Amino acid sequence: MKTTKGRLIIYTILLVVVAAIAAFAFVQIKDRTYFHSPPYTSKQDKASDVLVVYYSRSGNTEAMAREIARRLHADILRIETKSYGLDFRGWLQANGDSRSETKQVDITPAVVDLHRYRLIFLGSPIWWYRPSPPLWTFVEKNDFSGKDVVLFNTFNSKFKAEPIKEFQREIEKKGGRLIDHIFIRRGRVYYQMNGKELIRQAQNLLDKKVKEWQSLQRSR
Ligand SMILES: Cc1cc2nc3c(=O)[nH]c(=O)nc-3n(C[C@H](O)[C@H](O)[C@H](O)COP(=O)(O)O)c2cc1C
Repeated sequence: MKTTKGRLIIYTILLVVVAAIAAFAFVQIKDRTYFHSPPYTSKQDKASDVLVVYYSRSGNTEAMAREIARRLHADILRIETKSYGLDFRGWLQANGDSRSETKQVDITPAVVDLHRYRLIFLGSPIWWYRPSPPLWTFVEKNDFSGKDVVLFNTFNSKFKAEPIKEFQREIEKKGGRLIDHIFIRRGRVYYQMNGKELIRQAQNLLDKKVKEWQSLQRSR
């Protein structure tokens, strides 16, 4: 009787350990998969006064950035960094840097001439409940004087309000004004929305928001 109970406990522990390893492996594999969304290139013949700047490690925020740019005929700029590759090392580094809330990572481009833009979208995934380090770094390094800024994020389940307020203060320190924060919650690992659904949600969000931003800007 005693041995049967003991075996049951061991099997239960084994099952929990195997399930935890399987979940970790599943997340790692998912995390390494880049979502390639339909590309967007800004038109060269007409200068836009709207710019979409984004960092994306695995393509989801990029999909949202591209939909915003497509809808507003905006210029688009991707922030690159070598720090957070799609491999396990990159993932570890991403966790470490976002937990320590760094605002100093190597990014390209670092400094951008923003003078001809009146509205700037800044996008990033949420890491450890806050926008990821490359976006904070971009804000640190650039001048947002007189600019309206919209922050946009994708994430799985949750962000916190305080880092968003902190982001707003950083924009204000740089002379800009955060006029909105939009986001798409993709859902947790097992019931996460697919790329098509992400794009559809971005489009629905833009249907609601674009007029709001335009009238806000007219009233300035
Ligand atoms: C290091 C790291 C930390 C993350 N932290 C969070 C988090 O705090 N909250 C959340 O909902 N999702 C979190 N995620 C999930 C990402 O926000 C989500 O997958 C996002 O859509 C990825 O965007 P991307 O494909 O543009 O890189 C995290 C992902 C990574 C890699």
